[in-house]
Amino acid sequence: SKVDLHVLEEVDSTNREVARRLGLVSQPLPVVMADCQTQGRGRLGRTWASPKGENIYLSVGLALSGGFGALEGLSLVLGVAVARALEALGANPLGLKWPNDLYAFNRKLGGILVEIQGELQEGCVQVIAGIGLNVHMSDAEDVDQPWVSLANAWPEIRWRRSDIAAAMLNEIERAVRIFEQDGFGSFKDSWQARDIFLDMPLKAKDGELQGIGAGIDEKGNYRLQQGDATISVGAGDISLRIT
Ligand code: BTN
Repeated sequence: SKVDLHVLEEVDSTNREVARRLGLVSQPLPVVMADCQTQGRGRLGRTWASPKGENIYLSVGLALSGGFGALEGLSLVLGVAVARALEALGANPLGLKWPNDLYAFNRKLGGILVEIQGELQEGCVQVIAGIGLNVHMSDAEDVDQPWVSLANAWPEIRWRRSDIAAAMLNEIERAVRIFEQDGFGSFKDSWQARDIFLDMPLKAKDGELQGIGAGIDEKGNYRLQQGDATISVGAGDISLRIT
């Protein structure tokens, strides 16, 4: 369906730009892409290095019915949608690192930042989904973890940002519609099939929490197996790492 697309050379953050453009009506949805960002944001208050160089920095405004409670699992659904879009273009296999990082060959390929904007009218929640994807990035100074780009990982494919963006937006729209109707349940298996943490020894909170990766529950929390017991961790404030 229709989107209100803005392609910019430079912006502070495409998520912020969408927030500025979100109107009082939910259609058409604003989409902002930029060649680079001066204040790219990551999850948990981190920055997202956003150099020029044919990467994707894209944000889309979404309007979801069902109120705030219905958003549980949305960020995982978006991870599945982006993974599907990229796989269809040949980026296979893709991994998901809970809650919604995109991985290829054990390195981070991209990340998703979901921000709740507010309630438009009774039960209709506006959400901004921002996707950062390494497409042609060949070196980066301020990235603090192992990363890879689509062009590094699949050099035989001709990666075009417009193709990638179109594929992602289509999958996102489709996935969000299904999520709105049926909830997270129908995405659980798709998410789990790409889980890079499964059976891995994991820790969170500097080792305060430890366990073996055991997939997600019905709400999209991550499960850690500790002997006979299983605990669940929520996405709000935690980052899990392989020990
Ligand atoms: C993460 O892995 O921490 C999420 C990174 C999300 C980065 C994207 S780039 C486009 C959009 N604009 C931002 O400022 N952040 C997101």
